[in-house]
Amino acid sequence: MSSFPVTRLRRLRRTETLRALVRESRLSLDDVVMPLFACPGEGIVRPVPGLEGIAQRSIDEIVREGSELSALGVRAVLLFGIPEDKDEEGSGAWVPDGIVQRALRALGSEVPELTLITDVCLCEYRSDGHCGVLEGGEVVNDATVELLVRTAASHVDAGADVVAPSDMMDGRVGAIRTALPHTPIIAYAAKYASAFYGPFRAVAESAPSTGDRRGYQMDPANVREALRECELDLGEGADVLMVKPALAYLDVIRAVRERFDCPVAAYNVSGEYAMVKAAAAAGHLDERAAALESLVAIKRAGADFMFTYWAKDVARWL
Ligand code: PBG
Repeated sequence: MSSFPVTRLRRLRRTETLRALVRESRLSLDDVVMPLFACPGEGIVRPVPGLEGIAQRSIDEIVREGSELSALGVRAVLLFGIPEDKDEEGSGAWVPDGIVQRALRALGSEVPELTLITDVCLCEYRSDGHCGVLEGGEVVNDATVELLVRTAASHVDAGADVVAPSDMMDGRVGAIRTALPHTPIIAYAAKYASAFYGPFRAVAESAPSTGDRRGYQMDPANVREALRECELDLGEGADVLMVKPALAYLDVIRAVRERFDCPVAAYNVSGEYAMVKAAAAAGHLDERAAALESLVAIKRAGADFMFTYWAKDVARWL
């Protein structure tokens, strides 16, 4: 290998055309999924201060947003629900006329070209805000798994194309796979107990009322454990492995990419979005440039696609 002065890497950086020819990672509209939050009512778009682009939307407004997204070229959405009432079981998660089930039916008939992915979890539906059944201050695993299966099945009955369990119970992918042999599963396989979910919990009204999620979500310090989670989820029948959050865990995305040959996804979470929004609002950086740099970094790390609140903006920016 020659070195300077024969080799001058700046030669290929001179023009945008040259840079484009040698670009190693590219972000495209096919790579992004937009999260949406369905809430009861009509004509409701309840924005979140400091987080424009994220809002609770009633089903008519979800349909309007879904059509806009689709017209802009966004092809998939991830649905979350804010139910009318929360209860001790979290039954709003699986009832046939639950908020997500109704949103699925409405989108399925009004915007049939959109691919509908659902987040499968109990935290938005339980009065204690935990992702599973609480007994003596602990989230019990196996009883929770049964309810998650019920939830995933009801999503598919209502028209979900893909289910994405985000609860981090052991064995939930296998149980969902047995119940739904033909449904693609995106497993939140390496989901960390992260401070970056803060803004999401405000939108989804799902902050745990006692304790935290460290008894089921992963310790941010671990990467080997993430690979074990991934291996188990693949063995149980997951189709896609997801790492979440994305930006503080690019090394985890890379490790998963190198170890497994299945598709890898990443979730660019609410706190990652909020940080850029806040810095941009204060005039410290350019939102578009910072967002596109973040998203291409997630691809460079090895993700095939990503969940991001910038999905709609990406459609306008690219
Ligand atoms: C549900 C769930 C959460 C997120 C996605 N699914 C919150 C949590 O685990 O507390 C976070 C998404 C984000 O921050 O954008 N369990």
